[in-house]
Amino acid sequence: MKRMMVTGGAGFIGSNFVHYWMEQYPNDVVLVVDALTYAGNMANLDPVQQHPNFMFVQADICDTPQMEQLLREHQLDTIVHLAAESHVDRSITGPDAFLETNIMGTHSLLKAARQVWITEGQCPAQHRFHHVSTDEVYGTLAPEDPAFTEETAYAPNSPYAASKAASDHLVRAYHHTYGLQVSTSNCSNNYGPYHFPEKLIPLIITNILADKSLPVYGDGKQVRDWLYVTDHARGIEKVLQQGRVGENYNIGGHNEWHNIDIVNYICQMIDKAFATDKALQERYPEAISAIAGQSARLITYVKDRPGHDRRYAIDARKSSEELGYQPLESFQSGIEKTLNWYLDNPQWWRAVMDGSYREWIAKQYA
Ligand code: NAD
Ligand code: DAU
Repeated sequence: MKRMMVTGGAGFIGSNFVHYWMEQYPNDVVLVVDALTYAGNMANLDPVQQHPNFMFVQADICDTPQMEQLLREHQLDTIVHLAAESHVDRSITGPDAFLETNIMGTHSLLKAARQVWITEGQCPAQHRFHHVSTDEVYGTLAPEDPAFTEETAYAPNSPYAASKAASDHLVRAYHHTYGLQVSTSNCSNNYGPYHFPEKLIPLIITNILADKSLPVYGDGKQVRDWLYVTDHARGIEKVLQQGRVGENYNIGGHNEWHNIDIVNYICQMIDKAFATDKALQERYPEAISAIAGQSARLITYVKDRPGHDRRYAIDARKSSEELGYQPLESFQSGIEKTLNWYLDNPQWWRAVMDGSYREWIAKQYA
């Protein structure tokens, strides 16, 4: 039985991970620590709020004494560390917050774990600090390059990727220097429910439903490797259970898509959904292009992201051979679940998009 701290558990991947974990391991204790930045949302944790072994603390991971106190007070033995500033575009316009949370925040958490687990001896051997990282630390690939392996040299290109690379190195250093029992997973692009609509897939879905333009950066020929978020949660589970301490594991979807093809695919799916389910027209009367079966007319090519990485692709052989990890969702099944979730939860994304979600949450939890 684990007693787990999940940092960033009110964000996209963190909340999906917590839903998955509490369903699989209802006897485990899960304490979510989240600062509730713009990306954190208590509503994401609705499915587990009533669970007797679930706890939430609003806190900043940079607050080392508070992190130590939480580890002691709740006798925690596992950290799954997801808290981060995660959006590349924001790291280009405002890198400081990325360095603060992703580098200093990770270091703060490592210090707290070392202090309580090793120095104070709360669980000197049986502990785990699992760090959730990204494929972006490896930089960019040309079209014919082999996919990233765990041996690929780090070459981060955005302030976000550089901050995640720095945090990966700190995690590694705390293992080698202090014997902290760490593991790291480097995952490709996730998609699924509760994905903040500043990221490509939820932005495209919600913009079509609001009949807004669909911004495609540059020529739209960049490639990303998409993984359904619950498959990422399952990958983290495998690393926690079977992964070797001190190792990195790549997690990916074997699912490379050009951005423009993803955008067109979503347009077609939504056009089809509106054509076959007439009730959608009443629920979304503002989705004029989708109702006309012409969502693709909203596509607008815009100025490229500075330093935009051309292609990411994950070679996940180590995870599959060593841990027996395989994604369960096909892209078709995953994107259908995702679209249906957004169609069924307009109150969530409307509140997030118009900035009123904080008031909405305050009312929900008053
Ligand atoms: P997200 O932005 O949706 O969520 C991040 C969460 O961290 C939010 O709830 C936020 O409130 C919280 N947070 C931010 N700063 C904090 C701080 N100082 N203290 C405590 N909490 C803080 O991000 P996400 O997409 O769910 O990503 C989660 C993790 O997974 C990140 O570490 C990211 O680098 C990594 N990752 C993401 C993807 C992806 O496709 N989204 C892929 C690979 C790896
Ligand atoms: O690869 C893993 C990474 O995936 C994670 O580490 C990051 O936290 C996560 O945000 C994601 O980064 P990307 O930059 O790949 O995701 P994003 O959804 O922002 O963009 C996906 C692609 O779509 C990218 O090539 C940029 C492009 N794009 C994005 C937006 C928001 C557009 O063309 N138009 C857009 O409006």
